[in-house]
Amino acid sequence: MTAASSSGGRVNYNSGVSLLRSKNLIGRLNRLLRAIHPVLARPDDAWAAARLPPLEFGVYIRMDVRDREHAVRVAQKLLELHPIASDVLVRAALLHDCGKLLRPYIWLERIAVGLVQRPMKTPIRLEGLLHRRYSALEIRLLHPLIGAALIRQAGGFDRVAEIVERHHNPRVYGDADAVIIHDVDELE
Ligand SMILES: [Fe+2]
Ligand SMILES: [Fe+2]
Repeated sequence: MTAASSSGGRVNYNSGVSLLRSKNLIGRLNRLLRAIHPVLARPDDAWAAARLPPLEFGVYIRMDVRDREHAVRVAQKLLELHPIASDVLVRAALLHDCGKLLRPYIWLERIAVGLVQRPMKTPIRLEGLLHRRYSALEIRLLHPLIGAALIRQAGGFDRVAEIVERHHNPRVYGDADAVIIHDVDELE
């Protein structure tokens, strides 16, 4: 598990090495195998558009078609498991991985970084977060922060951005909404 804390405009990642993220590995591999064939991805963008305000939909639609499919699956699974989930939580589910849009979708990279996680001990500068080039591993580790910045930059709701920001480390923040997104994401 990767733990994060922020102070003075920086975020410190204190990651344990987990060479194989065995938890839900089969589900993860399943998703990655589907990801190899973008033409097979069928995101229900109309379903997403009906649930996202225009400014947030503008971020959603910039995602790769495969990430949009995953996002809709997570949001629909959320409603299946938590039928009274708030609109804000559904919007966070639809946008939780939007930070990945800053790097082109290359399926081999996704498989590699999805299986291996390396500690990142260097403090991360939050300034200029949306104006850098990222490696695949950096996107893997930083997309919650990048996604939150994208949502805020677009004029999206701050609480949606906050849940997105916390969706990989929800228990560190004690954020019950982010815990739900994290756990449903693990199932998809
Ligand atoms: Fe994520
Ligand atoms: Fe996800």
